[in-house]
Amino acid sequence: MTNVVVVGSQWGDEGKGKIVDWLSERADVVVRFQGGHNAGHTLVIDKEVYKLSLLPSGIVRKGKKSVIGNGVVVDPWALIGEIDRIREQGVEITPDSLMVAENAALILPVHRNVDLAREKAAGGNAKIGTTGRGIGPAYEDKVARRAVRVCDLADRELLEERIDHLLAHHNPLLKGLGEPEVDREALIQELLDIAPKVLPYAGVVWKVLDKARQEGQWVLFEGAQGLMLDVDHGTYPFVTSSNTAPGQAATGAGCGPRNTGYILGITKAYTTRVGEGPFPTEQDNDVGQKLGERGHEFGTVTGRKRRCGWFDAVMVRQAAKVAGMDGIALTKLDVLDGFEEIKICTGYKIDGKEYDHLPAATGLQRKVEPIYETMPGWSESTFGARSWAELPAQAIKYIRRVEELIETPVAILSTSPEREDTVLVRDPFEG
Ligand code: GDP
Ligand code: IMO
Ligand code: MG
Repeated sequence: MTNVVVVGSQWGDEGKGKIVDWLSERADVVVRFQGGHNAGHTLVIDKEVYKLSLLPSGIVRKGKKSVIGNGVVVDPWALIGEIDRIREQGVEITPDSLMVAENAALILPVHRNVDLAREKAAGGNAKIGTTGRGIGPAYEDKVARRAVRVCDLADRELLEERIDHLLAHHNPLLKGLGEPEVDREALIQELLDIAPKVLPYAGVVWKVLDKARQEGQWVLFEGAQGLMLDVDHGTYPFVTSSNTAPGQAATGAGCGPRNTGYILGITKAYTTRVGEGPFPTEQDNDVGQKLGERGHEFGTVTGRKRRCGWFDAVMVRQAAKVAGMDGIALTKLDVLDGFEEIKICTGYKIDGKEYDHLPAATGLQRKVEPIYETMPGWSESTFGARSWAELPAQAIKYIRRVEELIETPVAILSTSPEREDTVLVRDPFEG
């Protein structure tokens, strides 16, 4: 038996939340290890819909420990707002069931303002299309050693010191952008007001994980975003500001890499992307329109329409190698039901030259022309299928071809948003 790390294989929104929720039935601890409330995960359990951003997707199951690791950037107001919202749906959330790493860095209102101001000021190719949640600026402050952390909320004197340090950097910047400067006293007061709501959840996460290891408990590490949004391995600079690759699970939670276990890449049966940046297989046409409508491809966080396109096997193979994926969960296969033909991208052409990978250079990424292979579709429905036997032969052929091209086996198949519409092929917990 082993722990499991769940990561996205594409540009996010692959269905990580659904799979983490499904797998968490057998986990004792579910840990988020990077990102923040830029993530948006939709869970559907007996028709009841839960929308999560910052809370781990194990939160809806009773008796599990949900953990927000140090690798996450935490907006304290967003955290408390989400706890309240999910509680209203009948989910019990207490300091027993939820822990936030005391050493996690905070997202402050100034980070959101800087994020939005920069996006507004960015012209032409510079706009990233961020979620506007302050993620980038918060990680910048963390790395620059001027962040306010969860534990700082317990010490007023230190908090003031940290804020002064932070504002000495941000206020001149805001002034330069023509934005209003941060009111020091108001910010400190806001933080002191929210502190008593957040601090009961603050804890020493590495100890929880060490105890879990010693007691042989199962830990599920929940990634946000996807491999192509990884700050090192993604379509830089059109990425998020954290490492989404599974190596981050150990660092962003506080345990050794040996403890993170099986690596499961959540992979959509086609491709979507929110925000700016290269997207070789994008279908800005009827096909993309149909994928978007059938897949309900609208962002959970910002409501933006997701860009849609065919499955890109070159990109997912690269993601699988970079992440060391042991298997994938193939999701949203049902969205392809009824397509007469389905295309899969099997190679790239750039300036007449063929590539079997996505080169790092932005200039080359912009010029990628996908090379497609066309397969016949299927007219039967796979929606809600719960066993392999229910799948049409042509759908199985598609899955087999995907496995072959990405050189990684399918461990789980998902056929609808509902928790139980899931087919287990190989159990990740079995390693
Ligand atoms: P995440 O960010 O990776 O957790 O994914 P999101 O929740 O943002 O987006 C995935 C969307 O697809 C959600 O609305 C899910 O309810 C839905 N979904 C997940 N798996 C499936 C599936 O197999 N079929 C269909 N039709 N929808 C799915
Ligand atoms: P989940 O966990 C899809 C994208 C944004 C933007 C880029 C940078 O639901 O899969 P940021 O606000 O992080 O600085 O934005 O990353 N992005 C996501 N796209 N799903 C997500 O999360 C995303 N989180 C960030 O759209 O292109
Ligand atoms: Mg999402």
